Amino acid sequence: MKFITGFIAALAVLAAGGLIYMYSGAYDVAASNPHSPILHWVLVTARDRSIAARADQVGPPPPPSPNSIKEGFGHFDEMCVACHGAPGVERGEVGKGLNPKPPDLSRLSKGTDPRQLFWVIKNGIRMTGMPSFGATHNDRII
Ligand code: HEC
Repeated sequence: MKFITGFIAALAVLAAGGLIYMYSGAYDVAASNPHSPILHWVLVTARDRSIAARADQVGPPPPPSPNSIKEGFGHFDEMCVACHGAPGVERGEVGKGLNPKPPDLSRLSKGTDPRQLFWVIKNGIRMTGMPSFGATHNDRII
């Protein structure tokens, strides 16, 4: 009984400390400052595990056709280059100021699962700047 009371008291103290820290404004949300190594690890691990667990739900991306490649090029130029850049094109000003930095997609490892990339493009990644394009596009570009 004593142990349970002590455990609950410790949880209450932790929760109160967290609330005080949150309301004090001590936590720095500036995108211009990097995350601490621990928070970076927590966020990257949660993101990778979350995407891996959900990528199967959307299935493989539709196979490309000459038309979809041509139209996809235009969409990429219009909607992605400002953040990600492209071969021979630097990230735009928005992309340069984001934290985390939008990766150069031409440098993703060859082993990257296309279903995971498709899931990310369709759903976005909350709190990173990566938008969900599923809100404005269907799964096919024709
Ligand atoms: C407003 C900025 C912004 C725009 C516009 C944007 N992205 Fe992103 N994107 C990001 C950021 C930031 C990340 C990194 C998220 C992270 O590190 O968790 C990202 C991540 C990704 C990833 C995951 C890469 C990986 O390492 O697995 C893919 C794929 C991607 N974006 C594709 C696209 C495509 C395709 C478009 C256009 C249709 C696009 N993005 C438009 C900001 C953007």
